[in-house]
Amino acid sequence: MRNYFLGARNTWTLGLLISLAVLCIFWISTGNSVIGGVSKSNDDGAGASHNVMHMLNEVQRINDTMFVCSESFEDTRAYIQNRPKDDYNDLPIIYFVTPTYPRREQIPELIRLGQTLMHVPQIHWIVADDYDGCNNFLDVNRFGIPYTHIASPMPDAYRSISPSPRGVANRRAALNWLRQNNKKTGILYFGDDDNTFDLRLFNEIRDTKKVSMFPVGLIGLYAVSSPVVKNGKVIGFFDSWPAKRKWPVDMAGFAVNLEYLSQHPNATMPYRAGYEEDAFLRSISLRMNEIETKANNCTEILVWHTQTQKSKAPMVRIDSQYLESEKSNLGALFRELESMGVSHQSDSAGIKAQISKDGKSKPFTFFFR
Ligand SMILES: *[C@@H]1O[C@H](CO)[C@@H](O)[C@H](O)[C@H]1NC(C)=O
Ligand SMILES: *[C@@H]1O[C@H](CO)[C@@H](O)[C@H](O)[C@H]1NC(C)=O
Ligand SMILES: *[C@@H]1O[C@H](CO)[C@@H](O)[C@H](O)[C@H]1NC(C)=O
Repeated sequence: MRNYFLGARNTWTLGLLISLAVLCIFWISTGNSVIGGVSKSNDDGAGASHNVMHMLNEVQRINDTMFVCSESFEDTRAYIQNRPKDDYNDLPIIYFVTPTYPRREQIPELIRLGQTLMHVPQIHWIVADDYDGCNNFLDVNRFGIPYTHIASPMPDAYRSISPSPRGVANRRAALNWLRQNNKKTGILYFGDDDNTFDLRLFNEIRDTKKVSMFPVGLIGLYAVSSPVVKNGKVIGFFDSWPAKRKWPVDMAGFAVNLEYLSQHPNATMPYRAGYEEDAFLRSISLRMNEIETKANNCTEILVWHTQTQKSKAPMVRIDSQYLESEKSNLGALFRELESMGVSHQSDSAGIKAQISKDGKSKPFTFFFR
């Protein structure tokens, strides 16, 4: 275990210089996007690109504070899933980043998650707490897996904003930790403390080359958020809140290879509730045709946004002709959700389903002729 403080003043000075540089470039190239991966060719994305540009710009000026409370790189487990720990030594490490914050459910959620992760080989759990000091009762050490416990309080300026950008300071702290520790191999995954993770998820994401994506259950009005996959390729996004996002996905719906991440030193996440995933994926210049589909071409749900609350299963209005198996993954996905009682499909009633591409909703006929 180690204790050290990661200062913010240098980051602040550097941040200011970078922001000024970005501003100049932006000034000169009026109207031209300077962020990689943001398409200049399509008009409907332009407004959104501008906003994200502004967000990422703003981000540079934030004073992030982070403090590593304790950490261990030692894996004390003898056996994992009935096999000796050493059998797994050749697997890349998954850096599993969990933002958390003090509340009634914090400890039970972390116990449940920690006990899931005890079954996962080659894992390093980064638990980043939105708190001004080290909450030692979090006791991450007791799960026997390698871990880092970080205190990463949200800057005061954002606490009063509604909805407040929870989890951002935490994930930014984890990104900083990965950079400062020069982690350039392995996989990054953002897994919240209130989610449920199927152990099969870890096998799926472990061979991510750049960025992989998969459905997340219990998200939004459709009770699922998923890429739309046709012939093994992502062609759009099925998410009930497109909100002009180029990447309308949930935080738990993607994994990133660390070598790929390290090629994008500007990778960051803005303090803007709802747009964290979109801006992060833009900041690493993701392209649609690079996305690797997981969970059997996005027909299975291996991660759930459970939360500690109860909601009714929604009725989603979607013409059954679009749910034919040869059209896309949506048919299989809906049959699975139906059989589990998570959501229901109807041709004539319920919340109208939409698929978005480049931040814009398009009619189903656009994707399926
Ligand atoms: C990172 O941002 C700086 C300034 O904003 C820019 O000059 C540089 O080209 C960017 N680097 C990459 C790899 O995108
Ligand atoms: C960041 O730090 C500087 C210098 O310490 C301070 O003047 C500024 O108000 C801080 N900004 C925020 C957003 O807290
Ligand atoms: C996904 O779909 C593609 C194209 O249909 C197919 O080649 C591939 O085997 C599928 N992958 C899985 C895991 O089923």
